[in-house]
Amino acid sequence: NAIFVLNGPNLNLLGTREPEVYGTETLEDLHARCDRKAHALGFVVDFRQSNTEGELVNWIQEARTDASGLIVNAGAFTHTSIAMLDALLACPVPIVEVHLSNIFTREPFRHRSYISQAAKGVICGFGGLGYELAIEALVAAISRAKA
Ligand code: DQA
Repeated sequence: NAIFVLNGPNLNLLGTREPEVYGTETLEDLHARCDRKAHALGFVVDFRQSNTEGELVNWIQEARTDASGLIVNAGAFTHTSIAMLDALLACPVPIVEVHLSNIFTREPFRHRSYISQAAKGVICGFGGLGYELAIEALVAAISRAKA
């Protein structure tokens, strides 16, 4: 019953990176939020971050067999990565896309996500709370898939 939470480039800098956009919570704070929420719902979280597109693709492939569901904040790869989209399309478990910021109130190049097509849904604009909402939505989707 593992939920993979995959974080893309520059999210390791959370806390000091553009706090006016991304808030002051660190990646470790987000990890703690996910652990707490998932445990309350009977799941464990495998929380990872990489600045490398290929590593994220490998982790999505791993999720095909080792995860019950997947949460992805692909960072800037959201707006560029057909490779991540293809990996997600090949992944049979429910997927929720999350962004800390509201990408639709920002630069036009952030309005387009290549990966949304593979996701059950998208949560953006709620900061760290979005990760908890994503876990709740994902667990509901996992239970529905099993029923
Ligand atoms: C982000 C939004 C992306 O546009 C940006 O490149 C990020 C973070 C977010 O969580 O708001 O790195 O995914």
